[in-house]
Amino acid sequence: MGYVLGMDTSTTATKALLVDSSGAVVASAAAEYPFDSPAPLWSEQDPELWWTATVQSIRACLENANIAGSEVEAVGVAGQMHGLVLLNGQGRPLRPAILWNDQRTGAECDELRARVGRDRLIAITGNDALTGFTASKVMWVGNHEPEVLGEARSLLLPKDYVRYRLTGQLATDKAGGSGTQMFDLSQRDWSEEIIAAVGIHRSLLPDSFEGDEVCGRISGEAALATGLERGTPVVAGAGDQAANAVGTGIFDQGQVALSLGTSGVVFAASREPAIEPQARVHAFCHAVPNRWHMMGVMLSAAGSLRWLRDTIAPGMPFEILSDEASAVAPGSDGLLFLPYLTGERTPHPDPLARGAFIGLSVRHTRGHLARAVMEGVAFGLRETYDLMRAAGVPEPDLIRLSGGGSRSSVWRQIIADVVGADLVGLSITEGAAYGAAILAASGAGWHDTAAGLGEQWVQTSSGTFRSATDYSQSYDLYRRQYPMLKSTFAELADL
Ligand code: XUL
Repeated sequence: MGYVLGMDTSTTATKALLVDSSGAVVASAAAEYPFDSPAPLWSEQDPELWWTATVQSIRACLENANIAGSEVEAVGVAGQMHGLVLLNGQGRPLRPAILWNDQRTGAECDELRARVGRDRLIAITGNDALTGFTASKVMWVGNHEPEVLGEARSLLLPKDYVRYRLTGQLATDKAGGSGTQMFDLSQRDWSEEIIAAVGIHRSLLPDSFEGDEVCGRISGEAALATGLERGTPVVAGAGDQAANAVGTGIFDQGQVALSLGTSGVVFAASREPAIEPQARVHAFCHAVPNRWHMMGVMLSAAGSLRWLRDTIAPGMPFEILSDEASAVAPGSDGLLFLPYLTGERTPHPDPLARGAFIGLSVRHTRGHLARAVMEGVAFGLRETYDLMRAAGVPEPDLIRLSGGGSRSSVWRQIIADVVGADLVGLSITEGAAYGAAILAASGAGWHDTAAGLGEQWVQTSSGTFRSATDYSQSYDLYRRQYPMLKSTFAELADL
């Protein structure tokens, strides 16, 4: 029996997942690393950490499964999107990578809008300028460290740096490329106009490939380091969100996924490069040919409940907090929560937005706080979902739900009720690394298409959460809070 290896280089760890030809997960291993914030709003990581964790996790994975590297037929890479890695002519990083959650580039976003024109920027790339995306990070380096940009010979995304160390090849995938904001979304390739506006030359950028295309082979050096066999094919893979969609079986128009991790993501696949007119949700290429997707990212979803637990009940199991929340009536007896604890991205791109409990009274218990947090997160996800529906995303039969927060049955029910759609869980919840493994398996020729394989391997679990309770009054109240509080948040940031 053959195997494929899926890798996910996330912000906190690199995970390796070994999958057999039936789609079963045979072994997994992860190695963690920190990230640095050397100045307010900054978020950086040393690319060497990813490589060390890649070597460790691949070795541990092969060891756990007790198989030889030669039994791995292909490798897929996935990872954090939008990060900026700059290499010199010898292939060495010139500075720490600037990550997706770095917020320093507000001025460069304005500069990019001014150079291209906001409407044209959205028409070409599908997105408005955002501090998270790579384009403004490149401009920041040009403005503040011109000698670094001058010396750079290659510009890579984090997982493409891992590929480079595995294969010696410079390449990127279509989903990740579109997340740089330097792609022409409909052409699925670099836009000369945007690259010129950013102020770099095309030669700095790698060629881009569909997710299951082989674009490198394990080098002799990487074989020695990891235990994989020299010459093993490595497919393009995908940015973690598109890879996660592949790993949850979301490929076609009408399919929607919702993930309740630290951040919360609503993801809808499409056959056309559909754009929300004001670009309040992101539009990127999907990891499979002729498919695109819309996506909204809430920065603190399950992260909000974790914050609450760690703050008022440290160490308490989430099951107990969920039980307390389930004893409270829908609407939390007049308590609202705004989930902007780490600023927000969708639908309010505002690093200064902050969380809030509104309507607190002495009647409210810990269970009320927990339920209000769950409801507030659900309201935020509903806002994103509504924007997508208004931009033409057809109503799905079922929304596929994944992520740690989805283990709470009361939260799953709240989301079904608030979003007004039926939800279903999945047989496999290994996320982006599993999607990378599917892309690798397709690249190894196990199936004609990654989508065919994904549909075969990823099953929905039994049991649907049907939308029942009407939350429209609380949702309406929730939606009116951010516009009223926006200026307060900005003033608070100055205190
Ligand atoms: C996606 C995004 C995050 C990072 C985190 O747009 O910014 O999901 O990819 O890994």
